[in-house]
Amino acid sequence: STNPVSARAHTNIALIKYWGKRDEELIIPYTSSLSLTLDHFYTDTTVQFKSNLSEDQILIDGQQPTEKSFQRVHQFLGLIRKQAGFEMPAVVQSVNHVPTAAGLASSASAFAALAAAGSKAAGLQLSPTALSRLARRGSGSACRSIFGGFAEWQRGEDDLSSYARPLFQEKLTDIRVIALTVARGPKSISSRQGMKLSVDTSPYYPAWVKTCQADLERLKVAIDQNDFSQFGRISELNAMRMHALTLSADPDFTYFNSQTLTIMNLVKQLRHNGVACYYTIDAGPNVKVLCQQSAVAKIAATFSKVLGEKNVIVTKPGPGVQYL
Ligand code: DP6
Repeated sequence: STNPVSARAHTNIALIKYWGKRDEELIIPYTSSLSLTLDHFYTDTTVQFKSNLSEDQILIDGQQPTEKSFQRVHQFLGLIRKQAGFEMPAVVQSVNHVPTAAGLASSASAFAALAAAGSKAAGLQLSPTALSRLARRGSGSACRSIFGGFAEWQRGEDDLSSYARPLFQEKLTDIRVIALTVARGPKSISSRQGMKLSVDTSPYYPAWVKTCQADLERLKVAIDQNDFSQFGRISELNAMRMHALTLSADPDFTYFNSQTLTIMNLVKQLRHNGVACYYTIDAGPNVKVLCQQSAVAKIAATFSKVLGEKNVIVTKPGPGVQYL
């Protein structure tokens, strides 16, 4: 048996979205993406490999996972066992520190923490790049959560060349992300399914691949120049272009609900009134508002009135993966 190892990883919010796999088995994306790791939401995971077990034992937030989640974690542990050259089952305990009902639980922090704790417990000494590559195999977005602040996932061509790297650590440091939780609707289609449907059926998918590359280049220039309004504008635009792929899929679908649209309009209205803020949205109805520290009070007050204070969470750039 091995010693137990614990690791913490934070979630990240993509500003240039990852939406579509070129290789579903290896999780190689069609496009590169760029994210900001957030300080507020994280997962703590402990892994120990034990020779006296007959199969993996997995507890997520103190509970047995569904068969589907179990299989996903089990397969991921298989990658670690293969690299380590042994077959011992593992005990995995994972706790998500995400405010209840926030609906922000993320596979990104989960697989980044699991990759870090699992690989170290198995005696592998992985470089940050190798760790990012491994985390990617669990969930694409997890490869970016290995790093703090801004991270770019360079799509690469194969397993070896597809991983994230940190960038611009000293830029736009007063950036804030306000997570707004809207009423939960019916369970939406997973990002895994949603992106596959978009790739397979949206006639706009080739245009997305083309635009993403340009959006990414422009966003990097904006960050490098500490140009917040360009940064916000490009991020918002890229998010809407991603969501256009869901509306143009067959069958069509959307992650927005009526509250999502209300909030999008409110952000635009605030902007019209001189408050610099923009939004981004992932595979669910919640909205994240991008702003600078100086505008937080005004924006948080506006949305607290609409959604209630507990549904408004202010976050800032967060750290990369850490061992506990
Ligand atoms: C909309 O990383 O959850 O959040 O690789 O299938 O596990 P899998 O997908 P996942 O997709 C994230 C989609 C997104 C955009 C992003 O984070 O880049």
